[in-house]
Amino acid sequence: MRPLSDSPATTRPPYLDAGLPVAARVADLLARMSLADKVGQMTQAERASVTPADVTAYRLGSMLSGGGSSPTPNTARAWADMYDGYQRAALDTPLRVPLLYGVDAVHGHNNVHGATIFPHNIGLGATRDPELVRRIGRATAEEVAGTGIHWDFAPCLAVVRDPRWGRTYEAFGEVPAIPEAMATMVSGLQDGVPSVLATAKHYLGDGGTTGGVDRGDTRLSEAELRALHLPPFRAAVERGVGSVMVSYSAWNGLPLHAHAYLLTTVLKGELGFDGIVVSDYNAVDLIDGEPGFTPEEVRTAVNAGLDMVMVPSEWRRFIAVLCAEVEAGRVPMARVDDAVRRILTAKFRLGLFESPLADRSWTPSVGSPAHRALAREAVRASQVLLHNDGGALPLARAGARYLVTGRNADDMGHQCGGWSITWQGSSGAITPGTTILDGIRAAAGGAEIVHDPGAERAGDGWTAAIAVLGEAPYAEFKGDRPELPGLDEADLAVLARLRAAGVPVVVVLVSGRPLDVAAHAGDWAALVAAWLPGTEGAGVADVLFGDHPPAGRLPVTWPGLYPFGHGLSY
Ligand code: GLC
Repeated sequence: MRPLSDSPATTRPPYLDAGLPVAARVADLLARMSLADKVGQMTQAERASVTPADVTAYRLGSMLSGGGSSPTPNTARAWADMYDGYQRAALDTPLRVPLLYGVDAVHGHNNVHGATIFPHNIGLGATRDPELVRRIGRATAEEVAGTGIHWDFAPCLAVVRDPRWGRTYEAFGEVPAIPEAMATMVSGLQDGVPSVLATAKHYLGDGGTTGGVDRGDTRLSEAELRALHLPPFRAAVERGVGSVMVSYSAWNGLPLHAHAYLLTTVLKGELGFDGIVVSDYNAVDLIDGEPGFTPEEVRTAVNAGLDMVMVPSEWRRFIAVLCAEVEAGRVPMARVDDAVRRILTAKFRLGLFESPLADRSWTPSVGSPAHRALAREAVRASQVLLHNDGGALPLARAGARYLVTGRNADDMGHQCGGWSITWQGSSGAITPGTTILDGIRAAAGGAEIVHDPGAERAGDGWTAAIAVLGEAPYAEFKGDRPELPGLDEADLAVLARLRAAGVPVVVVLVSGRPLDVAAHAGDWAALVAAWLPGTEGAGVADVLFGDHPPAGRLPVTWPGLYPFGHGLSY
């Protein structure tokens, strides 16, 4: 289908003239829009609850795929076909305003089978390398654009203050300076061809809640809130971030989704943010603490500064409620116009009116060797060597015999963590890549490698055992813990067998956060924090065998054992 901008210049309305300034195109289009058109633009619905016919009938301005919400088959081509189907429906409306489709590509295009999955942000924080993070953003933009999508709900710029938080691994670090520096992810995603709208999230203070409770309450003075949690968002705005997602959490008891001072006065006013403020998933429902949203919650959120509301399934009711609130004068039309102006500006800047359909030339970039090589580089740089007694590392090759054990040695799902193919992540061979064991085998040279997950053969006279232990996947509040978690029974049983056999143990922890291992670490010859490396597990072996010395430094304090910034090398 030809975009309308191909229509003859004589009949083409100004908003379709790509030669005009964006502001002029926005003004012309806005003047042509009914209230229904405008409210449709402010509505973001989830793909499982929307048909293309719905997009046309309700003039929806945005859709998303929630975590794991993929087409069948889950291939890059099927994603692009799905996107084009919805986009064609959006163009089949009187004003033919293209759709803006969002997805959580938070460590690569992680929902898509076969995509490159990069280390989660906590590992990238350990690299202290903003340019590497920018390059990862660029590669992610290419893979996301390869499926047609133009909006990435990333980067998370949380400052994680309590590792009991289930989203610790989505943060770059515990001090503002690290996520502030890693705002380069915004430039990677947005600056270049293809351009993908980035999202600074979750504004404000998501990582500072009491007890690390996800969606909890951040109790700080304004000075502390500004000093700890605002700098990364200021850096993202200075880099031209196109959207900001509001946090589920509250500040001193007032939910961020109802916070006019922080959303309008500070973010839009003081920081000068001119992009889209988007809600989190059904987050408006939480303002009054009761399930579902009410007219009062809708008007409170929109009047506080929300420009687009993520209403995955209840989008029909949302449209009706917001239209009624505007018609009743409880939401000023000026507020609606400001929101729609921001949304349309993003769409014009992305070139969606000229090129609304998937650019299939980027589809081959999904899971490409070049992107996987970049991911492997990031895995190497994110490894943190926490201790290394007697030079246990780097591993010798010639004549050596290693037992590779532990449940996380050969599990793609565990090394990817949450937000990988599914929302919560899962165990097993979830997507192509190299497990940590694959990498050890490939890098072993003349060394003998035996894989024995339960360490039953601990006593067979090994040079050392490489025990890859840690966490199984989780996401968001499902990862919240009342206390800092330690090792589970399976890992402890493996360690007991190794200790009984007297074999030197190199522990590699695959986890989304520091773990409480103080009672055991003294038994180990070496300890490496691998974090959640993603699909290119071979990068861990690059460091274990010394082909690349460890360079990572802790982005978070390791309670009871190692300080923030700790990291050894060879
Ligand atoms: C989730 C997360 C947010 C994500 C959104 C859409 O609940 O809080 O980070 O972007 O919903 O999936």
